[in-house]
Parts: sequence; C-alpha cells; structure tokens
Amino acid sequence: MKRVDDFRLKFGKKEYVPLIIGGMGVDISTAELALEAVRLGGIGHISDAMVPDVSDRRFDTDFVKEKTKFYKYNISNSDKSDVKFDLGRLAEATKLHVGRTMEAKQGEGMVFINCMEKLTMNAPRETLQVRLNSALDAGIDGITLSAGLHLGSFALMADNPRFRDAKLGIIVSSVRALQLFLRKTSRLGRLPDYIIIEGPLAGGHLGFGMDWAQYDLATIVAEIAQFMKTEQLDIPLIAAGGIFTGSDAVSFLENGAAGLQVATRFTVSNECGLPAKIKQEYFKASEEDIIVNTISPTGYPMRMLRSTPAIGAGIRPNCEAYGYLLDGNGSCAYINAYNEQIVIHPDGKNISVMDKTCLCTHMRNFNCWTCGSTTNRLKDTTRQLADGSYRTLSAEHIFKDYQFSVDHQIALPD
Ligand SMILES: Cc1cc2nc3c(=O)[nH]c(=O)nc-3n(C[C@H](O)[C@H](O)[C@H](O)COP(=O)(O)O)c2cc1C
Repeated sequence: MKRVDDFRLKFGKKEYVPLIIGGMGVDISTAELALEAVRLGGIGHISDAMVPDVSDRRFDTDFVKEKTKFYKYNISNSDKSDVKFDLGRLAEATKLHVGRTMEAKQGEGMVFINCMEKLTMNAPRETLQVRLNSALDAGIDGITLSAGLHLGSFALMADNPRFRDAKLGIIVSSVRALQLFLRKTSRLGRLPDYIIIEGPLAGGHLGFGMDWAQYDLATIVAEIAQFMKTEQLDIPLIAAGGIFTGSDAVSFLENGAAGLQVATRFTVSNECGLPAKIKQEYFKASEEDIIVNTISPTGYPMRMLRSTPAIGAGIRPNCEAYGYLLDGNGSCAYINAYNEQIVIHPDGKNISVMDKTCLCTHMRNFNCWTCGSTTNRLKDTTRQLADGSYRTLSAEHIFKDYQFSVDHQIALPD
C-alpha cells in the first residue's frame, strides 16, 4: 500500500515531500507553520493578506495607526475613494514579513507566499505590483497567485531580476481559468512552475458559484491533466480541497497530481495563528455547522462556521485603517450594504448587516471563522481532555500523519 512518502514533488533537479500547507490569511498560516513544512522537507505558505497589520502585530511597526491617522478626516464619510495605501509602506511591510520568515528558514523545503488578486486595495494594479515585487526582493522562494484570474500578474513581475528564478504558480478551479492564464502569460515566455487545482471543498473563498456542490476535485484534476497532455505541457499539478488523510492524498498522486495542498487539518495545529478558543470551535463543529454563503464582499462564496461572529455584524466600515477590499474606485460591497441599513436606522444603533460583512475587520480580529468542508472531522484527529476541550496538535504530527499514514488511518497524539 502506497504512502505519500513514496512520491516526490520535483522542481528541476530538486525533490520535495509532495505536501504544501496552503496560504491562510490573515496570518492563520503563520511563518511558524510554514517553517515547519519547510523543516520537514515540504512547502509552507505565508500570506500577504493585510500584511501591514500582520507586521504591526509581529514586529511592532505602526503601519495601521499611521494610515488611520492620515485618513482620520474621512472616517464618517461613506465615500472611501480618498483612502489609498502608501506604496512605500506596503513594500516595507511585505519585506519585513517575508524577510524575517526567510531568515528563520531551516531545512530543505520552500516558503511560498499566497497573494490574492481580490485584495484590490483601492489601486489594484499598483498595489499588487508592489506586493509581488517586494516579496521577490525579500527572497521568497515562490509566489502562489490566488483569488482571481491574475491575467496581468506575471507582467507585473517581468522586470524583477528574480522573475525567472523564483517559483511562480497559480490556483485555478477550472480548465477554462487555466487556459486564460496560460494564454496571457505565454506572451512573456515564462510558464508557471506549478498549478494548484482547488476543488469546491476547500476553506476560504471558493472559485465556484453557489452551485459549488456540483463540482468535484478529482474530475477537475483529470480534465486539467488531459488538457496538459494535449498541449504537451509538463507542469506539476497540485490537488487541493478536502484531502483529509494520507490515503486521500495518495489517490490524487496516483491519478495525475504531483502534490497536494492541504490546510484544514493544520487549523488546529499549535503553530496556526487562530486563537486557542477558536481552534476549539473548529474541533467542536458538526457537519451542519459548516456553511457556504455570499457575505464576502469579494463576490466569491466563502465557507465558514455557522456561528461565525462576522455574520450579521453591523460595524462601521473600517477602510481608513484597512480598506483591502476597496476596488479601484473606492467602493466595497460591504459599504453599500451598511449604508442601506443606515437609511433604515439613522442613529446607527442596532445595525445588523446580513448580506455582506466587513471582511477586513473580521478577518483581522479572527471573527470570520472560515474553514474547509472537513472541519467536522478534526475532532477525530486528536484526544479530548478531561475538561471536554480538545488537544491541539503539532504541525509536525499532522504533516507526518499525511506523509506516512495508510488505509485512511489517522495517528492520534501520544
Ligand atoms: C482557515 C482557512 C483560510 C484560508 N485562507 C486562504 C487564503 O487567504 N487564500 C487562499 O488562496 N486560500 C485560502 N484557504 C485555502 C487553502 O489555502 C487550501 O487551498 C484549502 O483549504 C485546502 O483544502 P483543505 O482545507 O480541505 O485541506 C484557506 C483555507 C482555510 C481552511
């Protein structure tokens, strides 16, 4: 019976354990978590979502305070078009986060950074260009383009001296999205180094509509593998979404995938950035507690726990401090939804916004409990303590369980 460890993910002459811990913003996939994957010979992701805020928390910088102070005059204004990011500061924050992570790196694996195109930051092109190039300048091993089609993202890095040496990949959920991306990037004479195929059971935002349940990962992987064969392209395909055991992983490795990207099982690792109390919510979840809704202002459906505090919260939009989802015109779907409620409740009291949520604020405060579809099974991966709580696990334990387990077994901690 095969184990994940019988396979290797190859990039050029280098070989890796074919396990990638997926990016989880905002600082849910911490540097500590990513670095464990690296130490164990795999690949770990940090995320650049809300990186100025992450930097403030980790490195005692004042990026958010400074921005809030600068735009204080605009706080009660519903027009947020003035609120821009200082590109120099954004570069500084990215370089700090990436640079410090890379300095701490030990082992044979690689650290990648997850960059979501949907973080449009009131100047989509300019901010993405700074984010991508600053990560390259700070020595990141690879960049995973996510949450968007990224048709122009390779071009934004084309002048960077590391454009051809860093590993660059993209997350897609269909052959069509991949075709569009490849058509655009082929003009630069540089193909992606890996393609992550994310199915509908993943955590975070989904690359599907609300009909997500009609799709399945194995079928999409087979379609993309066939397309690659027809086009005579040899790029590692990484399967992601709902892979819970080593045996799940092996079945993808035997059917066209060169590696796996996993995340949900690591949400209850000691190294994961979620606060301890929230990890317990993930452990306790039952199948009925896991829902997919459309409250994210990005327009993508998102999976989360039903009890997530972000649902129905009615806080004032916090764009002066954050503003990561402002489109190029200073609009965000949450601002519109909030303003509709203000018309009904002009005193601003007892406001509950059901349609959309202030995702920046709630992700920042760990109040949007996004999760994968297998979250209800996390309780089966550990031991319950005398007080009824569940023991969190080391990332090493989870990683090795994926790497060495057979027959859908899950090793419990000692
Ligand atoms: C809590 C959580 C947060 C996530 N955040 C992001 C994110 O910020 N960007 C992204 O591209 N994917 C995100 N994902 C998706 C994962 O990186 C990964 O591809 C997917 O969840 C793998 O499926 P699994 O969780 O079933 O193992 C997130 C997943 C989880 C569970």
